[in-house]
Amino acid sequence: MTDSKGFFLTFEGGEGAGKSTQISLLRDFLASKGIDVVLTREPGGSAGAEAIRELLLNGAEDKWDPVSEVLLFSAARRNHLQTKVFPALSAGKWVLCDRFADSTMAYQGYAYGEKSVPLSDIEALYKIAAGDFQPDLTFILDIPVEEGLKRVEARSEAITRFEQMKLDFHKKLRSAYVNIADANPERCVLINAADTKERIHERIVSLVMQRLF
Ligand code: TYD
Repeated sequence: MTDSKGFFLTFEGGEGAGKSTQISLLRDFLASKGIDVVLTREPGGSAGAEAIRELLLNGAEDKWDPVSEVLLFSAARRNHLQTKVFPALSAGKWVLCDRFADSTMAYQGYAYGEKSVPLSDIEALYKIAAGDFQPDLTFILDIPVEEGLKRVEARSEAITRFEQMKLDFHKKLRSAYVNIADANPERCVLINAADTKERIHERIVSLVMQRLF
């Protein structure tokens, strides 16, 4: 689906893991090496996908069932890839994306427990939305659930539908991400996000240098 020349890096993790801080530190580092970087996020990142983001994040916790969520996230993903990510990669840019398909697996595929969407359905929808495209490298920021949620509470932003979920949801989410990292060692790296932001950044930079330079 893309004649990719740039790299696509995704940042994943539970709530309050510090993804945005690490994304902007990496952007500054790559820019200092003369690399053209695009920052983006899911759900969102393009006009159509940002409209879907509003639908997904605001409102009552049970506003959508998990299957409807996967359908909406998938539609948003396709629009985002087609209108923003693929053109940037074709132009040789590096794209740093705050959340991507592993979020769908972890949130809709595991964290809802019995109500989760079967993983094979999530994979099938991913294929419809994105074909064979995959990130070049994925950082999964791992932090104890209570600590992450404390950081979310300390922010001044409005609480989203997902942040309102019960503790058990967030615990399932954390172990889902560990499973995803174990199952995809060539693409994913699990990072201890309870460390200092400087040390996390150094680790991310050294992984980027090892794997992509
Ligand atoms: P956001 O405020 O961007 O969260 P964060 O700062 O934690 O990244 O909201 C995105 C929310 O959407 C987040 O709670 C995770 C959720 N999400 C899914 O449930 N499935 C998905 O496929 C994606 C991309 C996000």
